[in-house]
Amino acid sequence: MRDLPKSADLLAWYDLNAREMPWRVAPKDSITGIRADPYRIWLSEVMLQQTTVAAVQAYFIKFTTLWPTVRDLAAAEDADVMAAWAGLGYYARARNLLKCSRSVVADYNGIFPSTRAELESLPGIGPYTSAAIASIAFDRAEVVVDGNVERVMARIFAHDVPLPEAKPALRDFATKLTPKKRAGDYAQAVMDLGATLCSPRNPTCAPCPWTEKCRAHKLGIAAELPKKTPK
Ligand code: ADE
Repeated sequence: MRDLPKSADLLAWYDLNAREMPWRVAPKDSITGIRADPYRIWLSEVMLQQTTVAAVQAYFIKFTTLWPTVRDLAAAEDADVMAAWAGLGYYARARNLLKCSRSVVADYNGIFPSTRAELESLPGIGPYTSAAIASIAFDRAEVVVDGNVERVMARIFAHDVPLPEAKPALRDFATKLTPKKRAGDYAQAVMDLGATLCSPRNPTCAPCPWTEKCRAHKLGIAAELPKKTPK
């Protein structure tokens, strides 16, 4: 495919516009080699599986204040963790949180593994979450695809096949664009772009670092993508 957008342009945008979140390190820190704590990335990603960034923040702070490390969480009383989770919903996530923390302590000496295969052997960690942890916490060049990323890809490539049929193609596009370096910042940058400028209804294309390479923008159809198969 010709004239792909460059990850470097998105990363330059992210360096200035990254949303602050309590589990993130600032982009400048990741450049100097300070890494996000895998425990905090795992906890945030599990909370974010079915809950918005805005709703997760207070819970994240509560959990990491009560249980600052995976060993602390593994040693917690089940009832205390379930009570702290109350309000987040999807309680299987909280039960898996406890199982996973205990497995990291028992099987990995309290140190989160960094490969997707090892991560996916842990309770509650599926393909999306393993890619997010490997990329954000360990800077592995894994391809992280959520709904925001799918929307950005559908627009960049003006891919008008409806979801969910479009998923494999959108993943292929995401794979083409994911850089080998700063993969974790890149993954969060695409999610931030999708959550801010490249929004579902009224995308704000003028300040987007990728507008000039965006085929949907060129065709004037950004707001119409991605298409969805009617229910
Ligand atoms: N949604 C899920 N994980 C996220 C992250 N790390 N940054 C922004 N949005 C997210």
